[in-house]
Amino acid sequence: MKLFDVYPLQPLKIVRGEGSRVWDANGREYLDMYGGHAVISIGHSHPHWVTRIENQLRQLAFYSNSVYLPLQEELAERLAVQSGKTDYDLFLCNSGAEANENALKLASFHTGRKKVLAFHKSFHGRTSLAVAATDNPAIVAPVNQTDNIVFAPFNDIEALEQAFQQHEFAAVIIEGIQGVGGIRVAEDAFLKRLRALCDAHKTVLIADSVQCGYGRSGSFFAHDLAGIGADLYTMAKGMGNGFPVAGVLIAPHFQAKHGMLGTTFGGNPLACAAALAVLEVMEQDKLIENAEKTGQYLMDTLRGIPQISNVRGKGLMIGFDVPAEQGELRKRLLFEQGVFTGEAKGGVVRLLPSLALSKADADIFLEKLDTSLLK
Ligand SMILES: Cc1ncc(COP(=O)(O)O)c(C=O)c1O
Repeated sequence: MKLFDVYPLQPLKIVRGEGSRVWDANGREYLDMYGGHAVISIGHSHPHWVTRIENQLRQLAFYSNSVYLPLQEELAERLAVQSGKTDYDLFLCNSGAEANENALKLASFHTGRKKVLAFHKSFHGRTSLAVAATDNPAIVAPVNQTDNIVFAPFNDIEALEQAFQQHEFAAVIIEGIQGVGGIRVAEDAFLKRLRALCDAHKTVLIADSVQCGYGRSGSFFAHDLAGIGADLYTMAKGMGNGFPVAGVLIAPHFQAKHGMLGTTFGGNPLACAAALAVLEVMEQDKLIENAEKTGQYLMDTLRGIPQISNVRGKGLMIGFDVPAEQGELRKRLLFEQGVFTGEAKGGVVRLLPSLALSKADADIFLEKLDTSLLK
């Protein structure tokens, strides 16, 4: 049997990882400035994470959500403290799309409304409603097409106000920093106006924190840097450091009802052990502070490089533009210098490394970037 060919693959076989490094089948080492697409939060195969999962595997790998699973409560308690959302509830699931799908459903159950506002260049996942709220018609199947989603330009307050005049929304879904859309930061004034409009219209504000959340921006949630709070926060990627686990943080004004949401695998003991290990390491090694500091250092230094432009982002979620005359910079970085980076449309390079990236590794990256840029 062959694999269904849905990904454009690099001709590389990655077989091992440690910290901010991965190795291919030939033993060649790579610096991972891509984090397996923002997934690696505490570092590849972190020893505490490995031990926590191994121990849990021997104890109990799975039981269903029909009984109390103490690790879920332990995870919720830790998340409350570390995210600062002490009065929110937690719903656990398995992926970013599933978290957004459940958040959108919850907003619709809560308001009794159908319409959702999303933004140009957004990415919210590939399940039915999440993909409909994603601004990429190429990945929306005919069965997913719906009139219930309205798109507005990102960071355009006037267009936002107009959209609220024209429709009664159940929810607005927004990334604090658009990832797939090319590292576009939601402006503070835009988020503040959005919060005010949601309050005035009793619309649910969903902070898609799947990529920009979990400390990556230098704050637990990127949206909160604007001084606002969301009604629902969706989380995935960094939450498990590669173990599939996701969740929705739910503000106290939502009323739970049995059967409203559900999942077979969400919140299984192995996923909880992985997520707990991530939070423990994040706290012990002060990784959010490190993301803020190392990210700032990277951005400051990148801004001094003449061949690139428009350096932007927060913490360790960084993007910059590379002009066409630089040719295939990412390929040179990968195949000649052994550095993984991410990309976005229009010649954008994305950096999404582990939140534990050291200054020494940041310097190695900067050196290799300099070597790869055409002079
Ligand atoms: C902002 C955002 N939301 C949702 C998703 C979907 O997450 P998943 O691939 O885990 O379903 C992604 C994935 O890239 C994302 O970047």
